[in-house]
Amino acid sequence: MSTVFVTGGAGYIGTHTCLELLQAGHKVFVYDNLSNSSRLGLERVERLAKGSIEFIEGDVRDGSTLEHALRHSQCESVIHFAGLKAVGESVKNPLIYYDNNVVGTYTLLNAMQATGVKKLVFSSSATVYGEPQSLPIEEAHPLSATNPYGRTKLIAEDMLRDHFHAYPDWNITILRYFNPVGAHESGLIGEDPKGTPSNLMPFIAQVAVGMREKLNIWGNDYPTPDGTGVRDYIHVVDLATGHLRAIEKIMPPQCIELNLGTGRGYSVLEVLRAFEEASGKTIAHEFFPRRSGDVAACFAGTKHAESILQWRAERNLKTMCADHWRWQHLNPAGYASNNDFAIKNAT
Ligand code: NAD
Ligand code: UD1
Repeated sequence: MSTVFVTGGAGYIGTHTCLELLQAGHKVFVYDNLSNSSRLGLERVERLAKGSIEFIEGDVRDGSTLEHALRHSQCESVIHFAGLKAVGESVKNPLIYYDNNVVGTYTLLNAMQATGVKKLVFSSSATVYGEPQSLPIEEAHPLSATNPYGRTKLIAEDMLRDHFHAYPDWNITILRYFNPVGAHESGLIGEDPKGTPSNLMPFIAQVAVGMREKLNIWGNDYPTPDGTGVRDYIHVVDLATGHLRAIEKIMPPQCIELNLGTGRGYSVLEVLRAFEEASGKTIAHEFFPRRSGDVAACFAGTKHAESILQWRAERNLKTMCADHWRWQHLNPAGYASNNDFAIKNAT
């Protein structure tokens, strides 16, 4: 068992990954500035795992605090989740994205270099494929970006590839996530979006719980079976086990890119119907013109992750919706909801 240093570990994907790491017997250090999360998520992870996490509040752009924390942790590997992820916000305020996502990754690499930690798992996104030229999207698909957020991921990926080229004894796994959704089956940890969610499933969940009136469906004239956009939704717990595999699998020094998806796409209407079934609620909706920057369909080629990590996503759309719903109705206002109620009713 090893010691894993997790930047951004208090966030949505981070909490689920910390839980898997603890349950597998690893020691976990979380380094997070709590800009998009709270301590409560990690406290609930500790409760679920019956274990403890060492938490250090800090910013990945603060090199000296980061280096000190890395040294103190005596970790063998780092999972780097810390960053900003809202596409619309990145268009309005690109410099904040370059600072957090590019400078943050650069500062982390320097701190790892200074402390001799050479194993890194990096959070990338299917957004680096730009407009899909072929489906399913394999890792060799050409890379491009259509917005500042996507460009920060692409620049960070390039930086990692260049770094590995110069230091070939490193072990870097770049994981490109498709569309993470769902929550831990307990209902105690999940996504806690600030403001109006721009992603589909958190928005649907807020309509189901009565926080929003209806879902606006962005386009029903795509060349897809029902005209609405098709995406590869992946359960966040499957995503978390993918990270666990990337940490545990003994791999030779390398820099490798892997898709984490299910390989199957679902349309907006299919997701809506599945969520209605899981929640027993009717989701009011209305069709609107296409959202700028959206593609018709996007789903992952999964064979590389399957063969290299010996991992595949196991949870289907029904489970994604059921688990997302459990989290949403136990925590209607996310972690700001009544803690006692959620804990009493968790499964
Ligand atoms: P999240 O916002 O829930 O978690 C990110 C965490 O990083 C938060 O706890 C936040 O407080 C922390 N953080 C942000 N900037 C920081 C900084 N400068 N220093 C220290 N901590 C900082 O997001 P998430 O959904 O868990 O995403 C995790 C990673 O995965 C991100 O890098 C994101 O870009 C990437 N990703 C997410 C998705 C998605 O749909 N959720 C898809 C593809 C890729
Ligand atoms: C979005 C981001 C992408 C990011 C990904 C995961 C954009 C343009 N793209 O992708 O960069 O990597 O999230 O975080 O923002 N939909 C609706 N109504 C809604 C919300 C979504 O109809 O209120 C539709 C979209 O048009 C799309 C599908 O639902 O067809 C999924 O949307 P979303 O969850 O935002 O994910 P992506 O578009 O894949």
